[in-house]
Amino acid sequence: MRPIQIAIDGPAGAGKSTVAKRLAKELGYCYIDTGAMYRALTFKALKKKYDINNEDTLRDLIKKTHIEIKNVCKENQIFVDSKNVTYEIRKPEVSNNVSLVAKSKHVREYMLKLQREMAQSGGVVMDGRDIGTVVLPEAEVKFFLTASLQARAHRRYLELDKKGFNVDLDTIAQEISLRDEIDQQREYAPLIQAIDAILVDTSNQTIDEVVESLKQEVERKIEILNSK
Ligand code: CDP
Ligand code: CDP
Repeated sequence: MRPIQIAIDGPAGAGKSTVAKRLAKELGYCYIDTGAMYRALTFKALKKKYDINNEDTLRDLIKKTHIEIKNVCKENQIFVDSKNVTYEIRKPEVSNNVSLVAKSKHVREYMLKLQREMAQSGGVVMDGRDIGTVVLPEAEVKFFLTASLQARAHRRYLELDKKGFNVDLDTIAQEISLRDEIDQQREYAPLIQAIDAILVDTSNQTIDEVVESLKQEVERKIEILNSK
């Protein structure tokens, strides 16, 4: 049976990338982190001092930018204009501006084309905000991962603290909440659960538990597809 496409969407800190990466590994699939692509573009926009609230400026930026994910089937490495920015794109400055860049129509059109091309080989787990609704509407399995704001902020806090960033839990909660709001309310491809997505609340679940339950759903679906 041909490999399937798995879409994982949800708000910041729900556990999407951690779980998507693990699931892909266990299935022998490729993992594509679409958020990293928006982050990479934002990183360049900030570095080159582009006005990220101006649609024309963003259109100009896209024309001059080459974004690439290398090593998709193992550990994603993100490149902007041949520079590896995998580490830099996780910085709070990028997190706090990425949603403004991601609401641009031109930026989304540019990313959509790249992301669909990348997913063509099949056998892919792709995570983001609009994968099940816009990028891969035909994906055989779709998940919408969520968790309470408190749980998501706490996870992000631990993660950034471990990486050596000087962070405060309340500030992180506010930043995440603001980012979710911009992602949910934007005009193009907003963050929304696809009608055929399975909702998973990870607030009280370990990573292992979430991976296991997603894997079971995927195997169930593959069995159904095989029997047809
Ligand atoms: O890892 P985290 O949840 O913090 O965010 P991310 O997946 O790296 O995505 C960063 C931002 O990129 C999101 O807050 C969205 O603004 C944007 N994004 C998007 O608009 N569409 C996607 N498919 C993926 C990310
Ligand atoms: O991609 P997204 O923003 O949805 O979340 P993530 O970057 O995969 O996860 C954020 C943090 O939460 C990571 O440090 C994960 O290890 C942690 N996490 C967790 O503690 N429990 C879960 N069930 C899922 C993720």
